[in-house]
Amino acid sequence: MAFSKALILALIFVVFAIVKPSEGALNAHYYDQSCPAAEKIILDTVRNASLYDPKVPARLLRMFFHDCFIRGCDASILLDSVVSNQAEKDGPPNISVRSFYVIEEAKKKLEKACPRTVSCADVIAIAARDVVTLSGGPYWSVLKGRKDGTVSLASESTNLPPPTFNVSQLIQSFAARGLSVKDMVTLSGGHTIGFSHCSSFEPRLQNFSKFHDIDPSMNYEFAQTLKKKCPRSTNRDKNAGTFLDSTASVFDNVYYKQILSGKGVFVSDQTLLGDSRTKKIVEKYAQDQKAFFREFAAAMVKLGNIGVKKTGQVRVHPRFIN
Ligand code: HEM
Repeated sequence: MAFSKALILALIFVVFAIVKPSEGALNAHYYDQSCPAAEKIILDTVRNASLYDPKVPARLLRMFFHDCFIRGCDASILLDSVVSNQAEKDGPPNISVRSFYVIEEAKKKLEKACPRTVSCADVIAIAARDVVTLSGGPYWSVLKGRKDGTVSLASESTNLPPPTFNVSQLIQSFAARGLSVKDMVTLSGGHTIGFSHCSSFEPRLQNFSKFHDIDPSMNYEFAQTLKKKCPRSTNRDKNAGTFLDSTASVFDNVYYKQILSGKGVFVSDQTLLGDSRTKKIVEKYAQDQKAFFREFAAAMVKLGNIGVKKTGQVRVHPRFIN
């Protein structure tokens, strides 16, 4: 009896030793010992910055998406261009990503509290979660332990999906990063907060195609409203544009409700209604905000796992490699 008990214990030990996460794998408790104040420092910084500038939450959420889609979640989006290299942040789709200073501020405080410990990639991931929660969206536990990259190429920013993509192109772009059709529809819900410049949706409003002046998938009155916001004059305000939904500072399911009524701002939003694979997911989230929140949190964890580096450096300054 005693022998079989010992055998069972030994077996449990062996199984545990085999399946325990490999060293450096992402972990919810990664900084529990090495930097217990990390998440609070980041939350306080993000909260203060968002109070001061309401554009911050949407910008930080978008920053996380762009960072993870290029070279994995490795903070390559934070590196500055140098004489010999134009960095990701100066590539066309990233020009409108701003608020890098918030991550830099959090990182500065982290370097004081626990030097060379918390990676910039983890700071972006935690900040993205915090802005969602602060805007009224779900909370989730962020897995941590990413290392920072040392390469950042403007040319690679063209690998981000453009707002003109149709559903098949979007599915392909997300699948290339291990994300499912559902993840794609769910993460597109990030457009429940924030703003777009005219250039990203203007082609839908005039001379759309050979047969249609206005994109026929767009609600006609909505198109007229957007046209007024984007007058075709040479002295148009460079900040002209529109909010991505009617409650753009609140993380809710209104984005999906707008798609149901033809009021998705981008082709890439509205196309989700035009395909049976994605339509049912849009309909579900439009009626069930709880389901959207639950699945958004899960999809953000998956987004945060793309191409993570488990070895490498923890950058001391977000803008320069060590
Ligand atoms: C599905 C493919 C996607 C496309 C084609 C796309 C495209 C765009 C475009 C064109 C803008 C407006 C940029 C501008 O004109 O200033 C934008 C804004 C934004 N995107 Fe996406 N996006 C996608 C997915 C995502 C995902 C997955 C997230 C986050 C989970 C996200 C979060 C945001 C946010 C928060 C904004 C507002 C930024 C601000 O207010 O500064 N997007 N997106």
